[in-house]
Amino acid sequence: MNKEELIQTATALMAGDKGLLAMDESLPTSNKRFAEAGIPQTEEYRRKYRQLIVTTPGLNESISGAILFDETIYQSTDDGTLFIDVLYKAGIIPGIKVDEGTVDMPGSPKEKITNGLEGLDIRLNNYYGLGARFAKWRAVITIGDGLPTTANIKANAEALAKYARLCQEDDIVPIVEPEVLMDGDHTIDRCYAVTEAAIKELFIQLDAQGVFLPGLILKPNMVIAGRDSKTKNSTDEVAKATVECLLASVPPEVGGVAFLSGGQSPQEATRHLHEMHVLFGDKLPWPLTFSFARAIQQPALDLWKGKDENVVAAQEILAFRASMDSAARAGRYSVDIDI
Ligand code: G3H
Repeated sequence: MNKEELIQTATALMAGDKGLLAMDESLPTSNKRFAEAGIPQTEEYRRKYRQLIVTTPGLNESISGAILFDETIYQSTDDGTLFIDVLYKAGIIPGIKVDEGTVDMPGSPKEKITNGLEGLDIRLNNYYGLGARFAKWRAVITIGDGLPTTANIKANAEALAKYARLCQEDDIVPIVEPEVLMDGDHTIDRCYAVTEAAIKELFIQLDAQGVFLPGLILKPNMVIAGRDSKTKNSTDEVAKATVECLLASVPPEVGGVAFLSGGQSPQEATRHLHEMHVLFGDKLPWPLTFSFARAIQQPALDLWKGKDENVVAAQEILAFRASMDSAARAGRYSVDIDI
């Protein structure tokens, strides 16, 4: 474990007012999003779409790192340049999703655990050789009647911690993502309690695995009411609950915190991040930024529709959304500059 290299990578990912772009949708997720947008679900269309993203002019002004999917790390632009080389040239650090998706948890089938630890050391070694300098593993925690169970929170935290340790052995910065889903009608208070419990257990397990915290990035959900909840909390309430929950559960040595968007609209996710910086800016012990997929990509995907003539417009909206998130991280966002 080269701690200096891990710190260097984590610092570069968290630098300035930038954040991360998650473009690591698995095949089922990508197929679902393409189907909704009326785009053919083929490898070539996925390549074209990822080419659109990595060649977006100005993306590097707001994005420090991009999380790729296994298929994508081997793909190239029309002129044969590997995406990973396009990203390096733009000053964007390539990362890689290494979990292998979720399955029902034995004994509690309404909950999920994440696969992918088997053979992970070999895959990480290969990804480092290809140029990836950080990785991502997503665990999913479901809120429901009697859920999550303590066993589920613990199983997910253990797997995240084992993955994080293996990454650091290979000088790869692990992003650990314990995502508490927005599905359901739970209140913001319930989300707070579950998020806090999940993150606290995660740091117990990370400690047990001897994970080096300055070389690790946490990717949490924002603390927010369930999608079907009758109560809609204000931007202030979400920002306050989220940061207070993180301050209560995330050690100050952690290299950075970068949120997932979790199904919030792009504007909502941006507003919430902005408000966190307005309310807590100089009181935050770690850099606090974004690692969105849908909240950056969705408008571009909807605009592109798989058509070459829409590429430029889709790239413009992609760069614009990323720039709004960067402004939010700086506490300089305003609805007046958004669309
Ligand atoms: O694992 C989830 C993604 O990296 C973040 O996706 O911003 O659409 O929730 P999202």
